[in-house]
Amino acid sequence: MARPDIAVLPDSTPQALRDAVEEGGGNVVAVADAEALVWVDPAAPQDLRAVLDDHPRIGWVQLPYAGIEPFLDVLDADRTWTCGKGVYAEPVAEHVLALALGGMRGVGRYARARSWSGPYGTNLLDGRVTILGGGAITTSLVRLLQPFGAHITVVRRHPEPMEGVAEVVGSDRLHDALRGRDLVVLALALTPETRGVIDAAALDAMADHAWLVNVARGGHVVTDDLVAALREGRIGGAALDVTDPEPLPDGHPLWTLPNAIVTPHVGNTPEMGRTLLAARIRENVRRYAEGRDLLGPVDVTLGY
Ligand code: GLV
Repeated sequence: MARPDIAVLPDSTPQALRDAVEEGGGNVVAVADAEALVWVDPAAPQDLRAVLDDHPRIGWVQLPYAGIEPFLDVLDADRTWTCGKGVYAEPVAEHVLALALGGMRGVGRYARARSWSGPYGTNLLDGRVTILGGGAITTSLVRLLQPFGAHITVVRRHPEPMEGVAEVVGSDRLHDALRGRDLVVLALALTPETRGVIDAAALDAMADHAWLVNVARGGHVVTDDLVAALREGRIGGAALDVTDPEPLPDGHPLWTLPNAIVTPHVGNTPEMGRTLLAARIRENVRRYAEGRDLLGPVDVTLGY
């Protein structure tokens, strides 16, 4: 079987990711000689567009992240596109647990306190949890939540039964699925339909003790509506690994509200992610060489 010629850009890409191409059965070549491209920069879409315009022979592009919103204008139907969908699900699901427990058990507010304070906390044990999104993070999270005995609802575009999930409902039932829950987790792709799904009306549907955890994209939440809900105590709190704007500017109220926790988009750190991305690249190069379906295909029409 011929070894496919694959370029890896940018030049600063860690050696482990270049090695992954070779280990998967490809040759790492200069972009002028490549039929496929592994693009490791999660941003810089204009640079990618320029490379593709100069090298129309490139027929497959592997992107590094699960979320590909910066690249929406670069996608084209002439090529095969794959992304990091599913690659980082396990560390991100673990981060959801850290944020959920940190918020619900008051660790965030106690960590900020400078004196002994009164009791705060709600249980995740036996909790009612709603997760938006039915992808790989949700699958991992559902597994991690089983020992907590959580009653889980998933809201997704195409409702179909999921193992370990009590009910799966369509996005048209979002507000029903938010009511009375102890924890609401955002783990869905950012698209024009899902931008701003957590607005004032959604926050009002949530219980006043409920915590919101966002490990998806800041744009899913209307930040000003969230800040108002947190200030007025209309929800229990919010633990955000992603924000809008991102990075969250110094002095933003979310940094200091006692019922907010912000982590700087570290659900998957570069160190955690590198080995996982290398494994995906190795597997996809192998599949490409064998003419099989690739993992993490991007639907160019849906944009994720
Ligand atoms: C990280 O944010 C990703 O989309 O993979």
